[in-house]
Amino acid sequence: MKNVNIAVIGFGNIGRAFVRVLALKRKLLAKKYGVNINVVAVVDSKGMVIKPSGLDDYEMLKLCEVPKSGIYMFGSYAKQGVNVEEVYSKAAPNIHVELTPANYVSGEPGFTNIMLALKSGAHVVTANKAPLVLHYEDIMAEARVRKLAVKFRATVMGGTPFLEVLASMKSHDIEKVEGILNATTNYILTEMHDNLLDFEQALKKAQALGIAETDPTLDIEGFDAAAKLTIISYVIGKPININSIYRESVTKITLKDVLDAVKQGQVIKYIASLDAQKMVASVKIERIPRENVFAQINGTLNGVKIKSDATELFFIGRGGGRMETAHTVLDDVLEVALRWFT
Ligand SMILES: NC(=O)c1ccc[n+]([C@@H]2O[C@H](COP(=O)([O-])OP(=O)(O)OC[C@H]3O[C@@H](n4cnc5c(N)ncnc54)[C@H](OP(=O)(O)O)[C@@H]3O)[C@@H](O)[C@H]2O)c1
Repeated sequence: MKNVNIAVIGFGNIGRAFVRVLALKRKLLAKKYGVNINVVAVVDSKGMVIKPSGLDDYEMLKLCEVPKSGIYMFGSYAKQGVNVEEVYSKAAPNIHVELTPANYVSGEPGFTNIMLALKSGAHVVTANKAPLVLHYEDIMAEARVRKLAVKFRATVMGGTPFLEVLASMKSHDIEKVEGILNATTNYILTEMHDNLLDFEQALKKAQALGIAETDPTLDIEGFDAAAKLTIISYVIGKPININSIYRESVTKITLKDVLDAVKQGQVIKYIASLDAQKMVASVKIERIPRENVFAQINGTLNGVKIKSDATELFFIGRGGGRMETAHTVLDDVLEVALRWFT
């Protein structure tokens, strides 16, 4: 049995779901794949838990029960304050799992954490998009030099991962990637169509259900979808800067617009699109025929179409979601563990 040590940086929705899934599944995974994933450190915004020999399943499940920002209270392995360098000096993780919030101004804290991990010889798995959106080339250059992996399947449609398929289409000339890439705004639009809510009412409902953040700016102004298009553009080797992506605000849509569209057999969707031939990308409000595939993708579902010179592929499923994304992160961790440590 091979032990692979991991550090989990960021312990919110996804961090907790990930540690929980791992605690429940790792014995089974160890039996199936011959590799034991050992959590040697967990970090939130206020503190750290460091146990170089690895948390046991019970400790991992208990840790998931501590209140938000509260892991510094978790017994003798815990301490107040965040110092990721200390994680590396004390526990030397083999894989760094970056689950901190996305900050599209600086990319921090994710960028510094990821670079520290690579410089310390750890492979990286990230669900945080911002470091890749702002610093993709720097991160990949560092990883290449050190012969380390950077996996980021959970950053785009974390619940329905397709980036690895896209990356594998090496003989194809990718012409276009387009779809509904943001679950929050798709939920809001679905509420506007199905329950005739105006935008504000639909947003409030989404917030009450935890589908929209208290500050929904990144979703409703199209930043989140634009960030995903940027990552897609890197994956297909035709980088587009996030600042050059045209974005419309979904807040412009009124109930009257929705009713007008419906009368004409159409629905309004928030479509993210990357034209890889013209090298232009946008996140736009579009009226599409009711029969269109994207018109059928409702609620928190997302969907994407990859069009190449040879084929058209569709992926439809949950955009994010704790358990779904946690599994995608774990799949990346397992892939690194199996490829590099067995
Ligand atoms: N939610 C989804 O469905 C989904 C899907 C795909 C990708 N993602 C991405 O995955 C990442 C995590 O998402 P989430 O929903 O779990 O976010 P979240 O609930 O806000 O959790 C973020 C975590 O990061 C911690 N944190 C903040 N600043 C930190 C710092 N400087 N150092 C260490 N930890 C810090 C927070 O600490 P506190 O607990 O102390 O606040 C919290 O534990 C985000 O980048 C998100 O965009 C999310």
